[in-house]
Amino acid sequence: MERTRWYKDRVFYQIWPRSFMDGNGDGMGDLWGVLEKLDYIKSLGCGGIWFSPLYPSPGADCGYDIADYMDIAPEFGGMEAFRQVLEGAHARDMKVLMDLVINHTSDEHEWFQKSRRRIEPYTDYYIWRPAKKNGKLPNNWDSNFEGKAWTYDQVRGEYYLHLFAVKQPDLNMDNPLVREEVKKILRFWLDLGVDGFREDVITYISKPEGLPDDHLFPVNKGMGQYNHGPRLHEYLREFKQDVLDHYDCMTLAEAPLVSPRKALTYINEDSGELDMMIQFQCVCADCLFTDWLPLPFSLRKLKRAFSTWQRKLHGRAWNMLYLENHDHPRIVSRYGSERFREESAKTLAAAMLFQQGTPFLYQGQELGMTNCPLESIDEYRDVQTIWNYHHSALKKSPEERLARLHRSSRDNSRTPVQWSGEPNAGFTTGTPWIRVNPNYTQINAAEQETREDSVLNFYRRAIALRKSLSCVRDGDYREYRHLSGSHYLYSRDDGKQRILVVCSFRDRETAFRAPRGFNLEKAELVLANYPTPQPDTLQPYECRVYLWK
Ligand code: GLC
Ligand code: CA
Repeated sequence: MERTRWYKDRVFYQIWPRSFMDGNGDGMGDLWGVLEKLDYIKSLGCGGIWFSPLYPSPGADCGYDIADYMDIAPEFGGMEAFRQVLEGAHARDMKVLMDLVINHTSDEHEWFQKSRRRIEPYTDYYIWRPAKKNGKLPNNWDSNFEGKAWTYDQVRGEYYLHLFAVKQPDLNMDNPLVREEVKKILRFWLDLGVDGFREDVITYISKPEGLPDDHLFPVNKGMGQYNHGPRLHEYLREFKQDVLDHYDCMTLAEAPLVSPRKALTYINEDSGELDMMIQFQCVCADCLFTDWLPLPFSLRKLKRAFSTWQRKLHGRAWNMLYLENHDHPRIVSRYGSERFREESAKTLAAAMLFQQGTPFLYQGQELGMTNCPLESIDEYRDVQTIWNYHHSALKKSPEERLARLHRSSRDNSRTPVQWSGEPNAGFTTGTPWIRVNPNYTQINAAEQETREDSVLNFYRRAIALRKSLSCVRDGDYREYRHLSGSHYLYSRDDGKQRILVVCSFRDRETAFRAPRGFNLEKAELVLANYPTPQPDTLQPYECRVYLWK
């Protein structure tokens, strides 16, 4: 089947189902809620939706612990509601991506239940190891979420590997039967009509022979061994040749710690096994590798991340663009300013949306939603957050630890979408499963619908503009004044038209002059977040897009 690469002309919207919209009043988002909001997503100019997991799951990691890959959780509306959503999305020319989580399953998955009892053919579906004689664990790897990566199972009398939560045992991808299961899952959803997959931590699925200790990484031990493991390319090729190549679909692969050079080995357009990668540099401009090691925000670091990926992939592979998802705190609170919330939300939108690639917006980003200050550890829901609170190596006071959660926790972006000023932000008529950000009375979609200059309407205009400009899809990218710690300036040029994007990241006025070769008097100002831009000054977090044709 010919690959038409339709994803290049679309903007995607990520739905994290639990907190998107509750349709039946039980306090949790669901597909009935999504159905109500399809027109809203379309109104943004989006041409696709990525659904975080919708499958039956005990919810140890909010659905990333799957108990059945070929069904939809009843609390989300089951298969029937999913079919309606799929049809509704397609009727509006929106593609649908499922989250494919195959590094691990839930420990409540039937495969694990049988594997721990050594029932064939499931015995080797997971990564089991006997205890060592000296009582040591099979190796020194850490779990990404909860202590060590090994847990002893009483039923089988062996340890199993879990790179994430205790309730997320890793699958043994070296077992051909497991790979056949993966292919069955892919075919099942593609045959049902879904258009592609976001592949969860896919770079972890091939573990090195013998599971050696990791001496490379001081924290998160193991990462140096299992990330980009020895047979990863081989397995991805197998999935592609046996299944994906037979559909005009797309794949988006989550890839922690990937450089553009490494990424090109997977996503180059001649022979790559995947279409796009989720890299992490663009969400590490205020931290060291992870949100849990915070640093002051550095615009230069952000610009370097943007520009490196733009330059290195141009003409060879396709970028995935994002600033938010369900794994990171809200971007306005991180890279922008809560004081200049609307201005900075818009500048961040402009900084991302005119680059080359396929943008993904995360629910609430289009409203400029902020981090949510939960008041006690009991209000947090995320497994990683709760573990980090209780096991903080730094032994800080409870107040200091809460302050860290407020800065770093994924729950910041998992509070319900703020639809209106009604109780619970119009998200639910019941009791929400996690606290609603109390600022919903000011920040909500209904209010923003009534205002031309809202963040929401800015996103709509920016996306419409993006779609109308040929240079954004295929033009060259150039950055100017890359050393500036105040401004991000870039141009796109396809020979027929040229744009200059100007973004200030300062909370005060700054002097501005266009880079050489850009005559602003001949340009049309096609997007701005202040009503009357001044030629030689930028207001706090001001952004502008100029067009020459
Ligand atoms: C990915 C997901 C994250 C999940 C983890 C384990 O990083 O985005 O939400 O917790 O994988 O599946
Ligand atoms: Ca519900």
